[in-house]
Amino acid sequence: MSFAALFSLTVLSALHGVASLPSALGPSGQVAAAWYTSWHASGVPNAFPDTAIPWEKYNTVIYSFAVTTPDVNTISLSGSDASLYDFVARARAHNVAAHVGIGGWGGSMFFSSNVATPENRTAFVTTVADFAVKYGLSGIEFDWEFPNKQGIGCNTIAADDTQNFLYFLQELRKNPVGAMLTLTAAVSIAPFNDASGNPSKDVSDFAKVFDYIVVMDYDIWGKWSPTVGPNSPLDDTCADPANRAGSAVSAVKAWTAAGIPVNQIVLGVPSYGHSFSVSPSDAFVYGSQTELAPNPKFDASKQPLGDAWGNAGGADACGVQEGPGGTFELWGLVDGGFLATDGNPAPGISYRYDTCSQTPYVYNPTSQVMVSFDNADSFAAKGKYIQKTGLKGFSMWEAGGDYNDILLDSIRTAAGY
Ligand SMILES: *[C@@H]1O[C@H](CO)[C@@H](O)[C@H](O)[C@H]1NC(C)=O
Repeated sequence: MSFAALFSLTVLSALHGVASLPSALGPSGQVAAAWYTSWHASGVPNAFPDTAIPWEKYNTVIYSFAVTTPDVNTISLSGSDASLYDFVARARAHNVAAHVGIGGWGGSMFFSSNVATPENRTAFVTTVADFAVKYGLSGIEFDWEFPNKQGIGCNTIAADDTQNFLYFLQELRKNPVGAMLTLTAAVSIAPFNDASGNPSKDVSDFAKVFDYIVVMDYDIWGKWSPTVGPNSPLDDTCADPANRAGSAVSAVKAWTAAGIPVNQIVLGVPSYGHSFSVSPSDAFVYGSQTELAPNPKFDASKQPLGDAWGNAGGADACGVQEGPGGTFELWGLVDGGFLATDGNPAPGISYRYDTCSQTPYVYNPTSQVMVSFDNADSFAAKGKYIQKTGLKGFSMWEAGGDYNDILLDSIRTAAGY
């Protein structure tokens, strides 16, 4: 390290200590990460405060979310600043890198305008760097959903988003704070859209500014899909052509083909599943009352509510009325009677493990609710894939969704941590 770098590190450490902690990586430098959602920390059933995080099993935890605002000089925590200080202190005490996710599904509205012009990019670099110093962060995770692709419905959006994002990140890397931060992005299964609205063929310049990207391999199928399908498919190249909606395997193929090395790709994995209302005549293979059928149709008008954290519906961040989200955390499947406390199907629950997507389904014929989710077996398959493929590790959405660390322990062991 040069004297200048050492000097600025010392100064910044004194200011609040940006990135002065080495992030404790896995045996081959892999990331063991999860998102921590401040809105589930208190005031909800099964509240998950940061004291409940199994810190010793992670080397990175991402506080979610800081959100973009119409003012390029401001990132908003919507009043949760105090808990972010506590979170960072807790992470440091456990030698875990504290990152903050900026954006998210409901918080990406102003990324496009914040990076749209040279003036705005320069201002946004300062905003992000000051934010990192203020809270003593080790990293920033850009959770822009999505450059030049509408996410929630009312995001600012521009043809040049991906190019502008790159210019912004390059400038952030030239900033003395930005140079030291771990910079990452949560990304969809396809590379950032180019100016024509198609996945970019070459995003290799992003590999020079990001430490790694996290491919969000979840919400691939859900209540918006034509049939029931896997929330988080490991593979889909083995599926019927009509059912190839994306997967970890196809996403890694797409991102590496576009120039991101495998060892800069972290697999984003879910601790929750999606529910569907399925009649018994559709749920079971014809003539059976126990064997679940693949990809049954469902009744979208009877969307199950999900568990106690399931979004009940209402106005979203754009002010549009939405129905229930219908998600079940792993603990919610135990609470809801789908799974026993060991994570295996409860009595009276039908179970199917799909060998292509490597994901499980449970079905309660009484309530007619089917859930596509992840369990110890599917997380073991994902962990093995991470190790075999040489990915950079895993990041779980979200830390508080697990039950007795069933998922976390499984993926860590399988990935060789
Ligand atoms: C630059 O940022 C300001 C807000 O700080 C915003 O009003 C303006 O629209 C942005 N410029 C562009 C071209 O989006």
